[in-house]
Amino acid sequence: MLRLATGNIVSGDDFYDREKTIEQIWSHLETDSLLFSAPRRFGKSSVAQRLIDYPKDDLIGFMTNLEGSKNPSEFLRSLVGDIWKNEEIKKYISMKTKGMHHLENTIDWAADRLRIKDAEFLRRDWKIIGEEIINILSVFPKRMLIVIDEFSIFIENLAQNKEEPNHFLNWFRGLRLSPQTRKNIRFIITGSISILPRVQRLDLSYTLNDLYTIELPPFEPEVAIRFIKELCDSNQISLDPLFHAKVLEIIGEPVPYFIQAFLTTLKDSGKAPIIKSDLENFYWEKFLSPNFDLTFKHFEERFRYIEKWEADIARSILTFMAKANEPVSRGQMETIYLEKQGSLEGFSELLDLLLHDRYFVEDPSGSGKYRFYLKVFRDWWKGRRA
Ligand SMILES: Nc1ncnc2c1ncn2[C@@H]1O[C@H](COP(=O)(O)OP(=O)(O)OP(=O)(O)O)[C@@H](O)[C@H]1O
Ligand SMILES: [Mg+2]
Repeated sequence: MLRLATGNIVSGDDFYDREKTIEQIWSHLETDSLLFSAPRRFGKSSVAQRLIDYPKDDLIGFMTNLEGSKNPSEFLRSLVGDIWKNEEIKKYISMKTKGMHHLENTIDWAADRLRIKDAEFLRRDWKIIGEEIINILSVFPKRMLIVIDEFSIFIENLAQNKEEPNHFLNWFRGLRLSPQTRKNIRFIITGSISILPRVQRLDLSYTLNDLYTIELPPFEPEVAIRFIKELCDSNQISLDPLFHAKVLEIIGEPVPYFIQAFLTTLKDSGKAPIIKSDLENFYWEKFLSPNFDLTFKHFEERFRYIEKWEADIARSILTFMAKANEPVSRGQMETIYLEKQGSLEGFSELLDLLLHDRYFVEDPSGSGKYRFYLKVFRDWWKGRRA
């Protein structure tokens, strides 16, 4: 039974496929910590949760989400908050805090719920406190996996405060690479792949170069077809099996979230498409309706982290690309940039960012031109933004 889900993490029987990626992750975790990346909504957190729910050997894992964390002490709050949710790990740390003055003074380890005794202390001495926690975890009787979700958003948040990414990323690298940590702990940090050009802009590339990068792809087409069939069967969606391939054709890249959202909207509409053109109409009129704005809002929110003029140019390029019926050349994008900016200084960086964030990709035909990565995003942009 595969339930429709378009909210957050999917787990248990609702989680579909991904065996290959999971195998790849376990294999690389033998030796390295990982950067696990993909565009938003591709299913990163669900895969990470799967690793924790079905661990390998005697490994124990937990995940912390940094989306709302603005500085290193909030990172630690989030980490400790999630340690609190895991009875076994929390109990172990509470037993080991004796003599660790920083940990004893900041956090009430005997309390039922997380209680910070001294927030100012935590803000000031986050480095030592974080080290004490990780040092204890590094002698935990089981090997440990710590997933730090939405790491790239956290780094963007830190970057609001000029020196902080530098301090934090250097500290975190040192901690990850200490022999004691490496023996027992692996980290998976998740986020957008654009974290790499982002840290490069900050001259901090070396702080992540110990991480092995794994990118989560969309589903393979034949997996996606099976996924559609099972979702329809399990959720009483009356869609002629002859239309399953058509759904994929309409959606484009088989990202599980778009398949889930499409079938959910179809079910909610209560009408079964009779002919193929019904599906097309449904896609344009119902699926890409304003209700869907939220799904793509993050693509625009991402622009908050670049300069306003840069964001304006990025939007113009996307609009140009969405309206063009064929892939667009670098020269055409340069023309738009030149018109607005007067010179090409900074163009390559912007192109790099848009490519890394998978707004668009190089066209696979080998023409050296570019096209939207996600057809749904292109169609949405064309309909609502262009
Ligand atoms: N393996 C899967 N099986 C079934 N549905 C999935 C799977 N992976 C992702 N989905 C669908 O995609 C949605 C988003 O998944 P998830 O939250 O794991 O993605 P994410 O990449 O972490 O997203 P975000 O970047 O917004 O945090 C799920 O609610 C579900 O609809
Ligand atoms: Mg997520």
